[in-house]
Amino acid sequence: MSVTIRKLSPDKIELAEQLYQEYMKLNVPREQALRQSIEREDSEILVAETQGRVIGLIHQVFYIDPLHAGVCSNILFLCVREPFRRQRIGTLLLEGALNSAARIGVREVHVSTRADNFAAMKLYEKFKFEHAGPLFECTPGKLDEQHVA
Ligand SMILES: CC(C)(COP(=O)(O)OP(=O)(O)OC[C@H]1O[C@@H](n2cnc3c(N)ncnc32)[C@H](O)[C@@H]1OP(=O)(O)O)[C@@H](O)C(=O)NCCC(=O)NCCS
Repeated sequence: MSVTIRKLSPDKIELAEQLYQEYMKLNVPREQALRQSIEREDSEILVAETQGRVIGLIHQVFYIDPLHAGVCSNILFLCVREPFRRQRIGTLLLEGALNSAARIGVREVHVSTRADNFAAMKLYEKFKFEHAGPLFECTPGKLDEQHVA
């Protein structure tokens, strides 16, 4: 199977959206967010394509971080469609993202995943990512003041 890694193009947004939908079964329209993401210079979406189909995707965002005195990045999403897993497509996508990061002089690339996501952790460890602590999440504007006090 021949797989190409390239930037997500506007004509493939619908296919990319299906991949998000397959992973995160919430029925949320993502077309606009994807379109905005590919137009921004501080955001890169790479897709793995075979015969015109999108079979994997990685989204990386770049930001200036005074703490690291330079540009850092965050990998927001990495996913390979289920039938295509374990065929090095995740590896190719991550390689592509890390090459982009190196090209623009990123100081540190961050990525997080659930503690039980063995496949993702193995992949990141293979690329010499180091464990950097637990992940916290919150929804701003929905804080219960009693819990914050
Ligand atoms: C994580 C994910 C992207 C890996 O993609 P992939 O194309 O299957 O990965 P690769 O074939 O490139 O695997 C590279 C290495 O990762 C590790 N790995 C990948 N899948 C694994 C699994 N199911 N179990 C154990 N190790 C695994 C292995 O070390 C593998 O190397 P090997 O095949 O030589 O042993 C894929 O499983 C996926 O899309 N999962 C759902 C989405 C997700 O969890 N994303 C990451 C969190 S945001």
